[in-house]
Amino acid sequence: MSQITGGMIDFSQNSLYIAALAIAFNPTFWNIVARNEYHNKTLTRLFNGNSLRACYFLAITIFSLGILRDTLYERVLRTQPYSPTFYYPYLAYTLLALGNTLVLTSYYALGITGTFLGDYFGILMDAPVTGFPFNITGAPMYWGSTMSFAGTALWYGRPAGLMLTVEVLVVYWIALKFEDPFTSEIYEKREREREGKRGEGKKVR
Ligand SMILES: *[C@@H]1O[C@H](CO)[C@@H](O)[C@H](O)[C@H]1NC(C)=O
Repeated sequence: MSQITGGMIDFSQNSLYIAALAIAFNPTFWNIVARNEYHNKTLTRLFNGNSLRACYFLAITIFSLGILRDTLYERVLRTQPYSPTFYYPYLAYTLLALGNTLVLTSYYALGITGTFLGDYFGILMDAPVTGFPFNITGAPMYWGSTMSFAGTALWYGRPAGLMLTVEVLVVYWIALKFEDPFTSEIYEKREREREGKRGEGKKVR
């Protein structure tokens, strides 16, 4: 079909739109669920007040949605037109290696609850994580994931994959605009409460 149209991207394939939908859906989903959790504690109540279990449940859900999205993306890469102009295996290796390093070291630095929105469940980290990879970029997981998308597209030599990578970049950028101020506020609130407690302690003494 691509030979007939001659295009670099075959817009007649539904798999392209399904993958695009999954890419946009995932961060939207976890932001809505997490904010709802912060305000209404819906999942925590579902797990009888056990916020840790509720957070693990969300972690498994987000992780599974990620695997589904990646599967849909790979299907696009296998079925879309190939273009030698976009085939860069060495750059692809490099991006995949760097991207996966950023993602895996972020997981390691943050732990499960830190990675999967534990802050919104009231599971706060003791201190902000400042070591690698967070001393390189503020959002290593998002950058790492974007690099992996780009690397896979260049590995397959598929312009459609690069188009979807741009979408990944945009949805993560929007997600950060929502997440960063909100989580900062959660931690600032804790600081204010700690300050308040110290103040009370002094008064009692
Ligand atoms: C980031 O921190 C690691 C140790 O956690 C260190 O080895 C590395 O040099 C730091 N990088 C930058 C750019 O500061």
